Amino acid sequence: MNSLSWFPFFLSQKWVTEAATLDVLEAIKGRRSVRNFRDKEVSKSKLEKIIECGTLAPSAGNLQPWEFVVVRDSQRKRALAAAALHQNFVAEGSVVIVVLANQSRSARIYGRRGAELYSIQDTAAAIQNMLLAAHGMGLGACWVGAFDEDAVAEVVGARNHVRPVGIIAIGYPRYIPEPTSRRKVTEVIHEEMYPT
Ligand SMILES: Cc1cc2nc3c(=O)[nH]c(=O)nc-3n(C[C@H](O)[C@H](O)[C@H](O)COP(=O)(O)O)c2cc1C
Repeated sequence: MNSLSWFPFFLSQKWVTEAATLDVLEAIKGRRSVRNFRDKEVSKSKLEKIIECGTLAPSAGNLQPWEFVVVRDSQRKRALAAAALHQNFVAEGSVVIVVLANQSRSARIYGRRGAELYSIQDTAAAIQNMLLAAHGMGLGACWVGAFDEDAVAEVVGARNHVRPVGIIAIGYPRYIPEPTSRRKVTEVIHEEMYPT
C-alpha cells in the first residue's frame, strides 16, 4: 500500500480531523506538573476528551476499573484541597478529577492481585494518559497523590471497594514550570539482571 492510499483511512479517524495535538514524544517531553492556574474555565468537551484518553489506557484483562469524579464546585474543590494535606493549588484548578480504582471490578477475575495491584496500575495508567492529553491540548495539570484517603472518599462519596488513587487538578497554566531533573537513562537500565 503506498502512502497516498492511507489518506482516506486517516481522514476517517476523528482524532486527526479534530484540532491538532502534539506529537506523543513531544508531549511526553514537554509535560510538567502545573500547580498554577488562570481563572479560565476548561470546557466540558475538553474535559470529556481528557477523560476519554484516560479510558484508552491499557488495563489488566481490559477490565477498565477506573471511575472519574469530576468536581467543579468551589466548596468541594476546597474540601479536596484540604483533604490533600492543604495543597491549596488543587482548589484553583478549573476542574478537579478524583480518579478512583474500582477494586471489586478487578477482583472478579484476578482476586487479590486484581484488587490490590492491577486496579491501581490501571488507574495510574489512565491518569498518565490524562496528564498527557491535557498537556497536548494546551492545558496544565498536576497529579496529586498526597491526601488523606478517607477524607477524599468522603468528599466524593466513594465507598465499597472504590479507592481514591489520585486527584488531578486541571486548568489553563499561568506559567509553565521548568523541567524537573531525571535520573540518567544509563543509571536505570540494567542489562539482563538487576545488579547485586
Ligand atoms: C503518585 C504521584 C503522586 C504525586 N503527588 C503529588 C502531590 O501530592 N502534590 C504535588 O504537588 N505533586 C505531586 N506529584 C507530582 C510530582 O511531584 C511530579 O510529577 C514530580 O516532581 C516530577 O515533576 P514533573 O511532573 O513536572 O515532571 C505526584 C506525582 C505522582 C506520580
